[in-house]
Amino acid sequence: MVITKLMIKNTHSFPVEKFRNQFPIFNKKIYGKPLAFLDTAASSQKPQCVIDAVSKCYSENYSNIHRGIYYLSSNLTKQYEEVRNLIANFINAELPNEIIFTKSATEALNLIANVFSKEYLETGDEIITTYLEHHANIVPWQLQSPEKKIKLVVAELNEDSTLNTQDLLNKISNKTKLISITHMSNSLGHITDIKKICFEAKKRNIPVIVDGCQYIAHDKVDVQELGCDFYVFSGHKIYGPSGVGVLYGKKIWLDKLPPYQGGGDMIESVSFEKTTFAEIPQKYEAGTPPIAQVIGLGVAINYITSIGLESIKSYEKFLYNYAYEKMLNIPNINIIGHSDSKGAIISFTMNNAHPSDIATILDQEGVAIRTGHHCTQPLMKRLGIAQTARASFGLYNTIEDIDKLIISLGKVNNFFK
Ligand code: ALA
Repeated sequence: MVITKLMIKNTHSFPVEKFRNQFPIFNKKIYGKPLAFLDTAASSQKPQCVIDAVSKCYSENYSNIHRGIYYLSSNLTKQYEEVRNLIANFINAELPNEIIFTKSATEALNLIANVFSKEYLETGDEIITTYLEHHANIVPWQLQSPEKKIKLVVAELNEDSTLNTQDLLNKISNKTKLISITHMSNSLGHITDIKKICFEAKKRNIPVIVDGCQYIAHDKVDVQELGCDFYVFSGHKIYGPSGVGVLYGKKIWLDKLPPYQGGGDMIESVSFEKTTFAEIPQKYEAGTPPIAQVIGLGVAINYITSIGLESIKSYEKFLYNYAYEKMLNIPNINIIGHSDSKGAIISFTMNNAHPSDIATILDQEGVAIRTGHHCTQPLMKRLGIAQTARASFGLYNTIEDIDKLIISLGKVNNFFK
């Protein structure tokens, strides 16, 4: 057993109880016990203001948008477009029409893979990605025109399983057409050096796509400062509704890339002989969009902005350090991928228990964690493990949640003595 000499601080000025009380899910008991929800990396819980906004959209304001001149439609169209402006400001996009709403981040990545493949990728071209990627940043590339034989070139990891940025940069060649990377690993929490990669890519005119799903709710994102060409995230991981994703793309790219899906709202004119397309963002928003979800996402973004991403980041770092140091002292635990540059995710295995057994025992105590390969099978294979147990934190988690995790892990050790 490793006995750590580090002092574990258990107080922080973040008013967590105030925020936690704004999430109605925490009134619920699981097997008669309070919920310690440690699976925010999979999906975050929703504050009452987001739930109310979605409900109000349907009960008071609902109609289709972009289609009616009557009061309800024009009013909701205005609200929907205000969220586009809000998100442009939130991630510091240059223009609101660089923000495209999709049904998920997965759809956004499929969109980019599809339109890039149609227009820009040829046999023998290479796309650089990393071992840290979620399947959503691997499979869409593989699905594109298999006959073109586009090669995924995978950047290596360091000893501590962080991304080896230099290896990624060394892999850039004259065959490289794109770099598509995660901003924060969903399995391990490692944060990648997007700014440096974009800086080097830009020198060679290689566009960079960033999967920001895990990062977006935990720190400030400034797409212009990062220098990326595309940035993707989902609503449900940022305290907003499921069913909505965001694709940021530089206007210069979105203007010249072809449409993804055809249908209503994305056209300028249609005849049986020829169709011309609307300008961005409509060009990429075929069909009725996720209207209520976008409205809810706007409220979620205002919510976390009012708390402050700097405060959230600092508080989650405090939770991570507290959990990490306590877990170091628990026998049989192997923490996978600790580093200085990490979000609030702890992946681990136990010598004496399978991850599913760990999660089952924790569940009986009201502690919710995720287990499995976390949609990162190539990463698991690279690390030589089949799966992990993963605890991940959000702005509503408390020291008591982590203490429950620690006590429950002790119960796992007792059970599998
Ligand atoms: N991508 C989500 C996760 O990491 C679902 O759990």
